[in-house]
Parts: sequence; structure tokens; C-alpha cells
Amino acid sequence: MDLQLTGKRALVTGSSSGIGVGIARLLADEGALVVVTGRNEERTAKVASDLSERGATVVSALGDLSTDEGADHVASVALEAFGGIDILINNAGGGYEGESLSWFDVPLDEWAATFQKNVVAAGRLIHHLVPGMKERGWGRVIQISSGAGMIPTSAQPDYGPSKAALVNLSMGLSKALASTGVTVNTVSPGMIMTEGVMDFLRFFADKRGWGDDTDRAAEYVLKGCGQTVNRIGQVEDVAFAVAMLVSPLGGFMNGINIHLDGGGTASIY
Ligand SMILES: NC(=O)c1ccc[n+]([C@@H]2O[C@H](COP(=O)([O-])OP(=O)(O)OC[C@H]3O[C@@H](n4cnc5c(N)ncnc54)[C@H](OP(=O)(O)O)[C@@H]3O)[C@@H](O)[C@H]2O)c1
Repeated sequence: MDLQLTGKRALVTGSSSGIGVGIARLLADEGALVVVTGRNEERTAKVASDLSERGATVVSALGDLSTDEGADHVASVALEAFGGIDILINNAGGGYEGESLSWFDVPLDEWAATFQKNVVAAGRLIHHLVPGMKERGWGRVIQISSGAGMIPTSAQPDYGPSKAALVNLSMGLSKALASTGVTVNTVSPGMIMTEGVMDFLRFFADKRGWGDDTDRAAEYVLKGCGQTVNRIGQVEDVAFAVAMLVSPLGGFMNGINIHLDGGGTASIY
């Protein structure tokens, strides 16, 4: 099936590692021109060169999207390179990385930092790139939220609420852009296998006295997730959902939030 993405210009934030790499790779393979972004120069350059070896037209842009300067720079590199952006994927993000993520152990200033990274960063790029989409009468904006935004947990008081805010932002923006040709949707992944998740499984296995048996740790963690698909998600799973939403063929999907979590948050609520 041709997703009709050839020649579309996409910017994927946080594509120097993890889920963002999977999304950037699939969009590039489908013929989109891609701006790869991150803060880490080496990793960002490596992803860009891997994509160009696959035959993609790719540009890399470095910047901390938690700051106006960083976002201004990333947007200006993208606009200079491609003249406009048709597809914006707000994927960069994460939470407080301190030793304890318990509710009262996450300092309040870290809440603000997490909201900057997950929510305001998306807003910055939307401000830079969406007016152009509106003028041209076509565009796609995707926010990558998280299952943690849908089902609050007893820890990470910075992260879940910021991801819930992102869903709200996304749906509101879809209404603000009604009938413009620009759609706005959210993908909320459950646990997806990335380096960070692998580190967590190693830590978990070690803590339980299972040595480096990350398969056993994964099995244990999966049992607690309530998933009805018995495997950890892969970056390709997220990329596929994103590709479907950003395709011109996906234009009737607007203001939705895909719970991409192997059935972990299945609910009619
Ligand atoms: N993996 C999961 O299980 C999972 C589940 C649900 C939701 N998510 C969400 O999916 C997204 C990607 O997660 P991931 O697991 O792929 O994480 P990851 O491997 O840690 O990648 C995070 C990406 O975001 C970039 N980034 C982080 N803070 C940034 C900032 N202030 N400015 C610019 N770029 C920044 C990083 O760039 P540098 O490293 O170059 O700085 C990196 O490219 C995140 O929003 C995360 O919350 C992940």
C-alpha cells in the first residue's frame, strides 16, 4: 500500500534515539524528507547518516527544545533546508531521571522541567511550523504521549500529568485547526523496547537477583501491565501507527488518541 508520503517534509523531534529513530526511519522509507533532531550531536549525526545510506533526504538539527533558543534553531534549520514542514512529530521527551521516582521524591522544579520538555517544547514547534501548514492547506501534527498519561501511577508526579496535558493540548489544537487541512492526533505508547527500557530491565533483573536475565524481568513486568498482547512493544509498532495517521489517506482521523500498548489500557471509558 502506498501511504502517499513521497516528498512530504517531516520533522521528528527526539529522533537521535529510541522511538523517534523508528518513526524517522519509517517516514524516510516511505519517501518523506526528514529532519532528525536531538541534543546529542554524535547520535543525531549517526541517525542522519544511517537514513541517508538508506537513500533518504535527511537533515539534522540540534537543539534543546526545553528552551526558546533551542526550538528556534531547530525550526530555522528545518525551514531553511526544506522551505516548510508538512509533518511534525512531537516525540522528544521524558521525565525526571533522579534516583527515586516516588511521588514525594521528585522535586517540584523537576516537574517544571518535565513540562518544559514534554509539553512546552511541543508548543514551541507547533508555533513555528503549523502556521505554514495552515497556509498551504495541508499538514499533520502528532504528539507522542504515554500510557502513564492515561493511567496515573503512584510515582513520577512530573511525567504522567505532563503526558496527560499533551493529549489535551493535542485534541484542543485539532479543534483550533478545524477545516484547515491540518489534522492533529496523539499516540500513547505503553512500554516500548528502547535503550532506556533495556536499562530498566537490567536494573530490575539485578535487583531481584536474576543476574542479567532481562527476559525474565520482561516477563515479570509484562504480567503487571495488564496487556492482552504478550510482548513488549517495538519502536516499529509506534512508527506504524504514526505513519498511518500522517498519511494523506489518514485525513479522517482527527483529535484522536491511539492507546498503543498491547491492550494494556483497553477501556470504553
Ligand atoms: N520507551 C517507552 O517505553 C515509552 C513509553 C511511552 C512513551 N514514551 C515517550 O516516547 C518518547 C520517546 O521516548 P524514548 O523511549 O524513545 O526515549 P529516548 O530513547 O530517551 O529518546 C528521547 C529523545 O528525546 C530527545 N530529547 C529529550 N529531551 C530533549 C530536549 N529537552 N530537547 C530536545 N530533545 C530532547 C533525546 O535527544 P538526545 O538524547 O539527543 O538529547 C532523544 O532523541 C518520549 O516522549 C517518551 O516519554 C516512551
